[in-house]
Amino acid sequence: MRHAVPVDPDTDVQAAETVRQLRALATPEGAAALTRAGALLDAGADPVAGLTRLRAEVGADLAGPAWGIARQRQKARPAFGPDADRMLFTSDALEQAGRPELAARRAGRLLAGGADSVADLGCAAGTDTIALARAGARVLAVDLDPVARELTAANVEALGLADDVWVVAGDAVELVAAARGGEVAGCSAAVLDPARRAGGRRQLDPDRWSPPWSTVAALLEKVPTSVVKVAPGLDHDRVPAGIEAEWVSAGGSIVEALLWGPAVSATWRRATLVRDGAVHELTADADPGHAPVGPVRGWLHEPDPALIRSGLMSMVAADLGATLVDDTIAYLTSGTAAESPWVSSYRVDEVLPFNLKKLRALLRTRGVGRVVVKKRGSPIEPEALARQLRTDAGGTATVVVTRVAGAPTVLVCDVSG
Ligand SMILES: C[S@@+](CC[C@H](N)C(=O)[O-])C[C@H]1O[C@@H](n2cnc3c(N)ncnc32)[C@H](O)[C@@H]1O
Repeated sequence: MRHAVPVDPDTDVQAAETVRQLRALATPEGAAALTRAGALLDAGADPVAGLTRLRAEVGADLAGPAWGIARQRQKARPAFGPDADRMLFTSDALEQAGRPELAARRAGRLLAGGADSVADLGCAAGTDTIALARAGARVLAVDLDPVARELTAANVEALGLADDVWVVAGDAVELVAAARGGEVAGCSAAVLDPARRAGGRRQLDPDRWSPPWSTVAALLEKVPTSVVKVAPGLDHDRVPAGIEAEWVSAGGSIVEALLWGPAVSATWRRATLVRDGAVHELTADADPGHAPVGPVRGWLHEPDPALIRSGLMSMVAADLGATLVDDTIAYLTSGTAAESPWVSSYRVDEVLPFNLKKLRALLRTRGVGRVVVKKRGSPIEPEALARQLRTDAGGTATVVVTRVAGAPTVLVCDVSG
């Protein structure tokens, strides 16, 4: 289904102009311009020469928008794969888009209990809407922004999902306030992914997200089959009772945090690690508390960020027989290397109080000329310190600058060569 709400050019002239351009790109001439722009970009055309050539070939009206979308498609390819070349994104929508493989995972879990209609409250370019429709749901895709609605409508059409998707204008704040009987906007499930940026800057305060925290809390209370994407830095104290909070990392970086409505929640906290197509999960039904602190031993373990954020580090520490190097620092230490997806292990070769002169002298003695610097709980700038420590010597090492039992300390690890 196509979206039903016309754009009011008086309320947002720029949005109306973007919508006009997106519609022009949906015509056969527009589609041809887009294909040509993509071909020029893929051939490595420089922006000025490429755009000049495109203008000459397809006209000024289509060339600019086609070039802009083709550039976003290029950026989207690593995450969206072949879909990227059929979808439309503005830079803003692409910046806000989640990873499709994680959206698919979320959709699968949300629908596992049998819900068949889902409200995507703030659809942007439609990443979640697409994942939900592909997982078999009928989706009501809602956004305040006419450009977002246009993108989602075009994208579900391009991917053959339009029969299962309704794109509508609406305010998630009002829809959630009106939710009754476990449903929102007539749907038995909901996805909410609030905008957490304003004016190009990250909004750290959940009360300033759009929709704000009050809508997040109300949705989780009123619509049991729901999931909300939140900032990975969300304070644990904010998580309502009975709600599972999940932190997800991919490739060693934290990529999302989720709050699951009570009908989907299965535990208290969950850490999920996605690496090379494999998914590792760790759960706890209650707070496992802090790991104990102990002296630095032969191995240092750097925990995965989802493990740290989820508050489950003490479970892995217990498994590994490891202790924290300091009660405020997320480094673990034990007497053996760890075979665990949740940590990266480094052999500790030297431990010394933080002192640049002594560190240089030590590296010289050990024949180390190149180091990778890691830090936690220290104001140093890793790249700058690595440059300062560089010499002609052939050996390498990992230098970890941190606090051990409160004292600024350097651990020289994995010395080789
Ligand atoms: C972070 S984006 C969603 C991204 C999307 N889930 C994805 O992965 O592509 C948030 C969206 O919510 C929309 N939005 C913000 N406040 C809203 C509100 N009160 N009602 C409806 N939509 C809203 C924004 O226009 C934006 O498109």
